[in-house]
Amino acid sequence: MAVDRPERPTRIVAADADSIAQGGKLLREGRLVGFPTETVYGLGANALDEDAVAAIFAAKERPRFNPLIVHVRDFQAAGELVQFNPFATALAEAFWPGGLTLVLPRREPCPLALLVSGGLSTAAIRAPAHPTARSLVEAAGVPIAAPSANRAGRISPTSAADAADELQGRVDLILDGGPCPLGIESTVIGFDRENPILLRPGAIPRDDIENLIGRLLDPDGAMVQAPGMMASHYAPRARLRLNAKMVEAGEALLAFGSEPLPGARVVRNLSVSGDLREAAANLFSMLRLLDKTGAETIAVMPIPVSGLGEAINDRLARASAPRN
Ligand code: TXA
Ligand code: MG
Repeated sequence: MAVDRPERPTRIVAADADSIAQGGKLLREGRLVGFPTETVYGLGANALDEDAVAAIFAAKERPRFNPLIVHVRDFQAAGELVQFNPFATALAEAFWPGGLTLVLPRREPCPLALLVSGGLSTAAIRAPAHPTARSLVEAAGVPIAAPSANRAGRISPTSAADAADELQGRVDLILDGGPCPLGIESTVIGFDRENPILLRPGAIPRDDIENLIGRLLDPDGAMVQAPGMMASHYAPRARLRLNAKMVEAGEALLAFGSEPLPGARVVRNLSVSGDLREAAANLFSMLRLLDKTGAETIAVMPIPVSGLGEAINDRLARASAPRN
């Protein structure tokens, strides 16, 4: 296995003042800590420590060209690391703390480990809203680099148990703060010169952002791309069949709305009332659950593309893309 150090048991501990202080200490010592955010669980390391950041790539088996998100206390702390433009400032003021990540030029000099940026001159940054994540940033006293706490190419964990499933033996401590309230990763915004680009749809819907700063560009054609946005990502073991209008023999069903299709061997419903927020929060945990039933195919009912539906459909499309 591609891990620098021997496997050792992972401790999963309820997040409280003591365990968060321990987590902060481990981070300062260059170790890895799993922790909840309002979006998904993160796998954290001291973002100033090149070796600690390298350990994230090893634990996740993540390609080195795929850069990480840095978690900070607030706008001011972010300003010490990257250079803001007026749109970025407006976005941070409106949506931080919260599920929005901004990709901005690194300051020169910049204390962040180079590996955080995966060789680019930019860094992705956000101030998380989850109380445990915020307290951990405080306790660590350093910015925390944290990708989602899954092995590369797999579904992001939205509970401590799912994070442990992914990273057992590869992380020293996982702080258990219960299920993630939003359940889908942050929206990632980059800039082509100063024009905002939607690099990854996510927890903050496009409309909320466009209402504030106008139209977002698509990444196609822009100079900046999110290197992690490979077509096949978030892949469960089972095949996914999207926009299913009926269930075929032996299929599991990921339903949406009050009229789940009949005939599935096992069903999970993202939201009986058709609420996209509830659906986003349930998406990854239900995909994991259906995957574990051993079904060869998971049929997925159509999900509207409005609001959070854009991010949900994006993740489903990646989860169903052919593997390479
Ligand atoms: O909600 C989230 O964003 C979670 C929690 C833990 O904060 N984190 C997360 O990280 O989803 P990760 O590493 O799984 O996804 C980071 C995304 C990737 O698509 C990556 O390519 C993009 O952000 N990214 C990071 N740095 C970038 C940069 N300098 N330029 C362009 N894209 C970048
Ligand atoms: Mg991820």
